[in-house]
Amino acid sequence: MVAEPALPSTFIAELTDIVGERDVITDTDLRSGYELDWTGRFRGATPAIVRPADTAQVAAIVSLCRRDGVAIVAQGGNTGLVAGGVPMGGEMVLSLRRIATIGEVDRAARQLTVGAGATLAAVRTAAAAAGLAYAIDLGARDTATIGGTIATNAGGLNLIRYGGTREQVVGVEAVLGTGQTISHLGGLVKDNTGYHLPSLLCGSEGTLGIVTAARLRLVARHDHRVTALLAFAEVGAAIEAVSHLRGRLDALESAELMLDAGVRLVCEAFDLRPPFAEPHLVYVLIEVADSHDPTDDVAEAVGALTTMVDAAVAADDAQRDLLWRYREDHTLALNTLGKPHKLDVTLPIDRLAEFLETVPMVVRDVVPHGRTWLFGHVGDGNIHVNISGVDADDEAGDEAVLDHVASLGGSISAEHGIGTAKKQWLHLCRSAAEIDAMRAIKRALDPDNVLNPNAIFP
Ligand code: FAD
Ligand code: MLT
Ligand code: ZN
Repeated sequence: MVAEPALPSTFIAELTDIVGERDVITDTDLRSGYELDWTGRFRGATPAIVRPADTAQVAAIVSLCRRDGVAIVAQGGNTGLVAGGVPMGGEMVLSLRRIATIGEVDRAARQLTVGAGATLAAVRTAAAAAGLAYAIDLGARDTATIGGTIATNAGGLNLIRYGGTREQVVGVEAVLGTGQTISHLGGLVKDNTGYHLPSLLCGSEGTLGIVTAARLRLVARHDHRVTALLAFAEVGAAIEAVSHLRGRLDALESAELMLDAGVRLVCEAFDLRPPFAEPHLVYVLIEVADSHDPTDDVAEAVGALTTMVDAAVAADDAQRDLLWRYREDHTLALNTLGKPHKLDVTLPIDRLAEFLETVPMVVRDVVPHGRTWLFGHVGDGNIHVNISGVDADDEAGDEAVLDHVASLGGSISAEHGIGTAKKQWLHLCRSAAEIDAMRAIKRALDPDNVLNPNAIFP
């Protein structure tokens, strides 16, 4: 929590000239939703929220902030989980939610241009209406914005098949910290004319530029889907099974790991019936999607899993939704236990089982009262480690987990980013030379350090 920040009334008046009175928010009650992160663990404070309607207004705001040295945090849906989109250093919040136009789907190019504030769900719906699909999907789809997913290089539920957000972004429009606007939305997929700025902006967490629009790659929509929950008696068997399925099923779209404790928590929190009559230690939710019915392919691949102890296959959409609720509702269920410490890490596949088995002890050693919850995108080597029952500012468990991850050759952020929550541990994954190079890029594109100055760098 920072001291109540303030901006001169003349500056507020200039903001009002740009966007209009309605879209400069200074009222305490109206500010609070923009100041608190999704988990409720991180509360910042902002003097104002400004809500531009288009790229020109964003450019005018950034230039004004640069002139007066006013720091800005860009915010989309505020579903980020690393306190990167909330004003932890008293920054002004620049909300992109009004810039939400969705263009016509270009069926020939299989592309779509959208405003940064369009939600993931709206983009997915627009693509589906044109007989195509947007490859990124995640639990916060109804609120997370395209700008936020680009800024965090969001991974999500289908990365195993299509790659992450960076792989979907063909072009971007953005206002850099210099106040200059770059716009490259022509949609050429082969374009080796120098540095690929869309890739650089993916994962830049609002520190280099404010994304205002993007040209997105769409993929084929697959209407035939098989969704199944596979049960195992140990994590090593589950991980080996996923490797086997990846090798056999090209159309494997998701492979998500859960443990019995997490599934029980979800069932208790939301009054759901358990997936099996008898509980099992580990579950893997798989989804295979194709242009023809993949049932036989899935049956053959799954049938060869000698270590699998049980399986449930969704027979209809209601059952499919239930299987997905066991997985997706982990995030909401964990919030019923308080304000969890959320870590999202990747391990090399050959260290994943060891990590899953050892990490609860690593946490218990430093925070004996903390409880560890594990789930995630196992096909990508990405495990979500949540610690409940620990004070919001007690970071001993976080540090122990991240040290452990680094010692196993993993990454301290698989998909949520560094934000402000993890910046003190950036050095675990990045050398001094890499951090210097990143700082040099930051200085070049944001010379006055006005864009999210408290994120990423320690
Ligand atoms: P915000 O939270 O508003 O901002 C996130 C970061 O992006 C901040 O640093 C912010 O400054 C910056 N930013 C936002 N918009 C812009 C812009 N236009 N230009 C420049 N910078 C910008 N993430 C995953 O990767 N995979 C998942 O499976 C996943 N599942 C989730 C499930 C739930 C229930 C929840 C609550 C979150 C989940 N997340 C997941 C995290 C979150 O949804 C993603 O990080 C998402 O990309 C954030 O989008 P947002 O619009 O909410 O961004
Ligand atoms: C998920 O995969 O469910 C998300 O990344 C959210 C979380 O980590 O809770
Ligand atoms: Zn995730």
